[in-house]
Amino acid sequence: MAKQSRKLNVAMIGYGFMGRAHSNAFIQVGHFFDLPYELILKTVCGRNRAAAEAMAAQWGWEEAQTDWQSVVTRTDIDVVDICAPNHLHAQIAMAAAEAGKIVLCEKPLAMNLAEAKQMASAVRRLPNLVWFNYRRVPAIALAKDLVGQGRVGKPYHYRATYLQSWGADPERPGAWRFRKTEAGSGAMGDLLSHSLDLALMLNGVITEVTSLMQTFTPNREVDDAVLALTRFANGSIGTFEATRFATGCQNRNYFEIHGAEGAIRFNLEDMNRLEVFDRNDAAGVQGSHNVLVTGLEHPYTSHFWPPGHIIGYEHTFIATLADFLDCLAKNEPFHPNFDDAVEVQKLLEAVETSARSGSWTRP
Ligand SMILES: NC(=O)c1ccc[n+]([C@@H]2O[C@H](COP(=O)([O-])OP(=O)(O)OC[C@H]3O[C@@H](n4cnc5c(N)ncnc54)[C@H](O)[C@@H]3O)[C@@H](O)[C@H]2O)c1
Repeated sequence: MAKQSRKLNVAMIGYGFMGRAHSNAFIQVGHFFDLPYELILKTVCGRNRAAAEAMAAQWGWEEAQTDWQSVVTRTDIDVVDICAPNHLHAQIAMAAAEAGKIVLCEKPLAMNLAEAKQMASAVRRLPNLVWFNYRRVPAIALAKDLVGQGRVGKPYHYRATYLQSWGADPERPGAWRFRKTEAGSGAMGDLLSHSLDLALMLNGVITEVTSLMQTFTPNREVDDAVLALTRFANGSIGTFEATRFATGCQNRNYFEIHGAEGAIRFNLEDMNRLEVFDRNDAAGVQGSHNVLVTGLEHPYTSHFWPPGHIIGYEHTFIATLADFLDCLAKNEPFHPNFDDAVEVQKLLEAVETSARSGSWTRP
């Protein structure tokens, strides 16, 4: 397909970790995918002018701004990408929606369910995306395909852990993440939200949760760790653990599904691989197959490097963006969008309610 020339001017709010990950995706996506649009890195916006200008210079943004309110209403901006702390997602998204922009937003979508619903309603007629980027890890996309093909069969267990350790380090920066007014929650919104999004994609609706939340650090406003048990509509049961205190683990986003026909297991720390167990293999050779998910037949990988040449974290944002632009051109709905993120937010709210009440809670 020949490249077409429709230009989309992007404004990105926030230039920290995600600002860099998204800038890279905006730059790289057209190198790996034939795109229906040309993305123009128009404006990067943050509070500190010197830092915003340094970001613009390093990543090729045309200009730097410091006032997101004026940026999101500009007539020359088509896409507003929100990479700011959680408490700003709603106000920026609603203002961008009001101005009729395409709205891309980081996770967790909102500070709470009511806010998430308002945001989803504001963008309903506009193209929108929430950056649950792990859906586009090729091994996870393959896991979804295998589940869809019935390779796991009737599911019994869904088990997810998202283990980080940086919360245990008092010297670690990122103070907004520890303030309830800016983050909303701790490990729950930050990490459990990713695990729940993947669980919804891979194993369907969650009907009931019971949970506990723990803050190990004196005076910290948000949870350091959260555990949840769940029941799924398909009859399987789930366990979830998300923590910033798993010493020795840096970004262990892990899940496994055990079903009547087989099992699958994924660990982001070895993200190019998927372990697959097929109960129908001959008895003498039964066991997990360790699949290197870099083949021409695997999701997304043929866009990147030849088989066996592994990809990384940044490619998940590139693939997400490529799919989004493809849906935009075809006028098809993209997932995960704000409505999908509302489903995650319902579960987060149920987890919080259950942790308080000590009882099973329906989202
Ligand atoms: N998808 C993922 O895997 C993933 C990973 C990390 C973070 N996130 C999410 O991305 C968002 C940002 O996280 P981060 O790690 O990039 O944080 P960060 O602290 O590295 O960056 C936050 C940025 O927001 C800017 N900012 C703060 N207040 C602002 C304001 N009033 N106006 C404009 N800019 C403002 C800061 O200057 C900074 O550039 C959060 O919602 C977080 O949960 C998602």
